Amino acid sequence: MSFGVHRLWKKYYVKLLEELHKPNEKILDIASGTGDIFHLLNRSKNLYAIDPISEMHSVSRKKNSKKIIDYETGIVEKMSYQNNYFQMISCTYGVRNFEDRKKAFSEIERCLKKNGYFLFMEFGTPKRELLLKPYKLYLNDWLPFIGSIVAKDRHSYKYLAESIQKFPSQQDIIKQVESAGLTHQKTIDFLSGSNSIYIFKK
Ligand SMILES: C[S@@+](CC[C@H](N)C(=O)[O-])C[C@H]1O[C@@H](n2cnc3c(N)ncnc32)[C@H](O)[C@@H]1O
Repeated sequence: MSFGVHRLWKKYYVKLLEELHKPNEKILDIASGTGDIFHLLNRSKNLYAIDPISEMHSVSRKKNSKKIIDYETGIVEKMSYQNNYFQMISCTYGVRNFEDRKKAFSEIERCLKKNGYFLFMEFGTPKRELLLKPYKLYLNDWLPFIGSIVAKDRHSYKYLAESIQKFPSQQDIIKQVESAGLTHQKTIDFLSGSNSIYIFKK
């Protein structure tokens, strides 16, 4: 979807994680998928990953075979970790898929230590008017078309396009996280907000 640019965004994101996180502190990756973030992260222990699809963990285990990762098959809305357990909680391209964001953010707040960070990266809608029309054309027409040819899966790419457009504005998503008790620190936009990193602190 991003013509491979998301790989650069992930590298940038991981550098931020490393700046805010000390190696001996516990870090949780929510919606960890196939383990890209821990693969890029220059840490080998105190790593925790949660995702509802166990096959994702199997791919991650192979990719991250030299790292000690505690895998949990489960959902963010109902995590079994203790209160105030992690110094850092991370989530890339997962917040859009949470079924109940209110519960999810409240669980994240519960599991995060005081002064700990919650970082997430998510697709969004560009702020610049000029980019809006071509972006929507790309999302609604080109993306499902390319998906049907390259991945032979029009439906998933249509879902991706729809979920990006349904995602709340930056102001609203920040309000939702702050309602759970975290404080917004910074938002970093790429391509006028079509991809953004959000940083919160407890
Ligand atoms: C687009 S993938 C992102 C994977 C990975 N974070 C990355 O950046 O490559 C979204 C992931 O969210 C997971 N997911 C969906 N609903 C979830 C939930 N309620 N709680 C935790 N993870 C969820 C999916 O299983 C999937 O692995």
